[in-house]
Amino acid sequence: MYKVKTLIIALIIVLFGNIETSAQDKKIKEWAIALHGGAGYYPKDAPAERTQAYMEALDEALAIGTEILESGGNAMDAVEATIQYLENNELFNAGRGAVFTAEGKNELDAAFMHGNTLNAGAITGVTTVKNPISLARKVMEESNHVFFASEGAEIFADQTNVERVDPLYFRVEEKYERWKRNNAGQGYNHNDSETENGWKMGTVGAVAVDSEGNIVAGTSTGGMTNKKFGRVGDVPIIGSGTYANDLVAVSATGWGERIMLNVSAHALAMHMQFTGSNVDEAMNYLVDDLLNPREAGFIAVDKYGNISMRTNTGSMFQAAADSEGFKKVAIWED
Ligand code: GLY
Repeated sequence: MYKVKTLIIALIIVLFGNIETSAQDKKIKEWAIALHGGAGYYPKDAPAERTQAYMEALDEALAIGTEILESGGNAMDAVEATIQYLENNELFNAGRGAVFTAEGKNELDAAFMHGNTLNAGAITGVTTVKNPISLARKVMEESNHVFFASEGAEIFADQTNVERVDPLYFRVEEKYERWKRNNAGQGYNHNDSETENGWKMGTVGAVAVDSEGNIVAGTSTGGMTNKKFGRVGDVPIIGSGTYANDLVAVSATGWGERIMLNVSAHALAMHMQFTGSNVDEAMNYLVDDLLNPREAGFIAVDKYGNISMRTNTGSMFQAAADSEGFKKVAIWED
């Protein structure tokens, strides 16, 4: 009798133990994607047509990534294509719309990371690459290195087929004139680092998981207005502005120095890994406890397709969708 009882208890433990394990390992959503177009303070009373332009751009960027994932495409392609669109749209501080350095130039940073392989590529200070995110992906896929800077990144670009442009391509005249009026010669000050409508910072990024389980993060930026000679922000520092492992993919936006000092994207991933927290709990820890108010925003997706997006700056251009029909396009959290 005793033996039978023991056997039954063992069977129950094995059965229920397995059910619990498989529930945890099960991928709940086929695919999921989130993107951001910068965090800062964008006032609710900004001109309606400008707000509408941002919302339409976010919606369009989301549609590009969603279409790739919906048709069974790879998360790497979804992240790259989504970010390319944002880089080509001068509303955002990346690619074409990049902000100006203290010398009035445009110097671009980007990073790309595949979480399943822990492989990554990053570039900083490029001036002739139309889509820096594509060059970052090529560093990951076509070089033995992780991070190329400035002239070296341009030489690497020469060895690839990425599209090149005259540096003046990035000088959007309206932005340039505004920079000359408001910022030229003022020096670097993160609280005074943007341009219009109270907007303070900007960067673009995307994170995605696909139906094969690839989990990917990418981020691209012009950095901070009036940044000094050779200044590198958080975006291309793997683990700071961009990080992915086989559990979660993260992209940051905001005050690069603060994001770097907290090794922020990696901190979110490690919080999940070592405390067993879910992606929302890890996001709250990062945004509320680790960083100070008004410093940064983040997007993250975990391997189950759970999405988390938060900022402590007041607003973040953001959008997300998943295979279960969830869709969000927003600027403010409420
Ligand atoms: N977060 C963008 C930068 O600080 O460069």
